Amino acid sequence: MSGPSPDPAAEHYAANVARNYGAPPITLVKGQGAYVWDVAGKRYLDFAGGIAVNSVGHAHPHWLKRVTEQAGKLVHVSNLYRNEPQGQLAHALALRCGPGRVIFCNSGAESNEGLLKLARLHGLRKSGLEGACIGVVVAEKAFHGRTFGGMSATPQEKIQKGFRPLLSGFTTAPLNDLAAWDKAIDAKTTTAVLIESIQGEGGVNPATPAFLQGIEKICRERNVLLMIDEIQCGIGRTGKFFAFEYAGVKPDAIAMAKGLGGGFPLGAIWMAPPHDDLFQAGSHGTTFGGGPLAATAGLAVLEIIESEKLIAKVAQQSIGWHAELRKLIELRPDLVKEVRGAGYMVGVILSIDPVPLVTALRDAGMLTAPAGGVAVRLLPPLNASPEELAESVAILRQVLVGWKAA
Ligand SMILES: Cc1ncc(COP(=O)(O)O)c(C=O)c1O
Repeated sequence: MSGPSPDPAAEHYAANVARNYGAPPITLVKGQGAYVWDVAGKRYLDFAGGIAVNSVGHAHPHWLKRVTEQAGKLVHVSNLYRNEPQGQLAHALALRCGPGRVIFCNSGAESNEGLLKLARLHGLRKSGLEGACIGVVVAEKAFHGRTFGGMSATPQEKIQKGFRPLLSGFTTAPLNDLAAWDKAIDAKTTTAVLIESIQGEGGVNPATPAFLQGIEKICRERNVLLMIDEIQCGIGRTGKFFAFEYAGVKPDAIAMAKGLGGGFPLGAIWMAPPHDDLFQAGSHGTTFGGGPLAATAGLAVLEIIESEKLIAKVAQQSIGWHAELRKLIELRPDLVKEVRGAGYMVGVILSIDPVPLVTALRDAGMLTAPAGGVAVRLLPPLNASPEELAESVAILRQVLVGWKAA
């Protein structure tokens, strides 16, 4: 006689959840700070962070208080009406980004759709003719999302396969190869470039400051929008509010999502003047975007980042953490080639497929995320303690020491 299943979610997933995520291996039921627990009560150090989403950890008391209070007050009204938190969050982001305007949405892919629509409007303004200036240059190994615009901007066979024809107008050039971008950016037909300051899904590949500065110069000369995708690397993760700040460039538009809501679905695009008037009444919109609950979640994240001085902490604590992680190269030079990234966005670059190692790390009590077929990605919450950072290194050491080379 069989009793009730210890994990009904596993059965429901097997029977009724679409298979596009494969078969997720564990059922998570609870989170607190930098830890999550599965249905069997096993605890994990969560350095996958919901793929760079849980910026202030799980169940942060201030985030929880703000979100639950707002949930009891006003959850949704649509953009037919103003709501207070949306206005406050737009203002808070403009203080970080510079004067300009913000459109809210619900995910990273939607943020990039907004940027791509902005690029079309800029191309129209630039050329005076719809369809004449629609070129967007993107980087090899980029990842910009799974919508049709996002996929079109993501030059990866595994993402695009089966969905073609995609949007036209995209050109690809290797990240950090300024000469190639100089050639690809055409003064007449290119309307924008779209670049991740640090590629996440592509394997934690940073754009160099010199490259971003060179791109900025070309964009200014040719009246091309510099659009930066900070969806994964933004909101404090790298030890600056935006990762492009390391290069000192001034984007024309920025895509945000992931860490902005601290776990609540929230995306945003910020646009600098004079481009912030390209969207006029009726040209873009969403039912849910910038709703009072989501905007409050975003405000709570910014308040925590501010009050706990998390950006300075990430910048400071990551120095020692990276140094400890780099010792893994000496420990297993046959497996670990490099440690790269910035702040709390780190790729441990391997000479083997990262997926089995991610599984072994999970078994050993730490969640991480593979990236680009080469990296184990570590994405701690911005408020991870020195002890939690040290624990991540200890788990990596333990698993790597025992790893049998194939
Ligand atoms: C840089 C970047 N852009 C866009 C996206 C898409 O975001 P979402 O999955 O929220 O649609 C991601 C997601 O991983 C990302 O890392």
